[in-house]
Amino acid sequence: MIQLKLELDNLYSSIPKEKLLAYDQQIISAYRKVYNKTGAGGEFLGWVDLPTTTTDGFIDQISAHAASLRAKSEIFVVIGIGGSYLGSRAVVDALSHHFALLKDKQAAPHIIFAGQNISEEYLVDLLEILDKKDYSLAVISKSGTTTEPAVAFRVLKAHIEKKYGLAEARTRIVAITDKSKGALKVLADSEGYVSYVVPDDVGGRYSVLTPVGLLPIAVAGYDIKALVEGARKMEAFSRSVNNIHGNPIAMYAAARQAMYAAGKTTEIMVNYEPRLFFFTEWWKQLFGESEGKENKGTFPAGVGFTTDLHSMGQYIQEGLRNIFETVISVGPPKKEIRIPQADNDLDQLNYIAGKRLSEVNLMAEYGTTLAHVDGGVPNIRIQIPEISEDTIGQMVYFFEMACALSGYMLGVNPFDQPGVEAYKKNMFALLGKKGFEEQTAVLKTRLNGKI
Ligand code: PA5
Repeated sequence: MIQLKLELDNLYSSIPKEKLLAYDQQIISAYRKVYNKTGAGGEFLGWVDLPTTTTDGFIDQISAHAASLRAKSEIFVVIGIGGSYLGSRAVVDALSHHFALLKDKQAAPHIIFAGQNISEEYLVDLLEILDKKDYSLAVISKSGTTTEPAVAFRVLKAHIEKKYGLAEARTRIVAITDKSKGALKVLADSEGYVSYVVPDDVGGRYSVLTPVGLLPIAVAGYDIKALVEGARKMEAFSRSVNNIHGNPIAMYAAARQAMYAAGKTTEIMVNYEPRLFFFTEWWKQLFGESEGKENKGTFPAGVGFTTDLHSMGQYIQEGLRNIFETVISVGPPKKEIRIPQADNDLDQLNYIAGKRLSEVNLMAEYGTTLAHVDGGVPNIRIQIPEISEDTIGQMVYFFEMACALSGYMLGVNPFDQPGVEAYKKNMFALLGKKGFEEQTAVLKTRLNGKI
């Protein structure tokens, strides 16, 4: 049974329920495109049945490999960017102790990410740490040609080979890439790295349940079987109802489109749990890259409350009225802290003494939601009982399917990302890559002699 609940009570004041249900035909049509592979990008629908087609045997194989890497690593570096990075980071962060790096006892290696930026200082600092720690790494790139991870891997490859010698270094490097093409595939084959394949029909931002996400998550010590099982539940649920009625996935997709049609073109994902920060980042990529094209698409933004109520709260309450919110609300944690009674009550907090912090957090959520609704910010609430492999797996599939439906309803191909190429071409031209000579001259002029 799925545990994720969708609440739309605070949306219905701006879009009545009947108006949302009127999207049923569009939902049915979008579902048909997904399941029959008849929509744009139909060749990238491998994620749809990925949870059920991923065998327990394959999960066991990844887990066993992860265990061998864990045994010899204090740090596991995951090199990747975009869809080859955000999924594992979202899940690992969501499941980790907030202060994992400072905990005395380390049951599993710390997962550190690289290749998601080109900051020189970032790599300098990382190498300083890796000099003193035992580590292994995964280099992840579906295309095998992305510059950021390729640069980071070239630097770390040299470091790990120097530290352990060529033969041992090769056992500490895992490559996750295309089955047959790309520079990383060629490199991995020639070095003899253990490799995993990113399936052809699964795009980067939909790849968290492939080895792209599963290997790093398993190395971090989390139960990837439970994660996939959570996604399987949502997959089975989605298949059982291909329309809007009683279907939170479809209702969420329809609500987004209804908001967009009403001029609410920015969706803010809100969490009240800092561990979900990178889940929001993953969600931002999923929706931003899938829908933002042809001059269309809801802009996905993210905030962490109550922290950002003290920085972004003013804008959300009273700024441009083009915003709606989607709150991820998590049930109370197992470990509890209650606010202590103070004899003198100098801080005047005795009125909440005895309450759990999660109760205070929940009242902050309810209070904020009502204030924002009053200020013209409609609210969607997604509730999960706890943050676990199971519920994260459910959310991953929930948002992937909602994104596909929403993208088809918007009339775009939710599985391509043509716009990502523009900056790459300019960067290659400016760096003097072969084949970009003509553009180099044009860009140099536009930069007014800066280079
Ligand atoms: O979703 C996508 O396809 C992109 O965000 C890619 O994941 C990202 O650009 C990295 O690409 P690659 O895995 O080919 O290095």
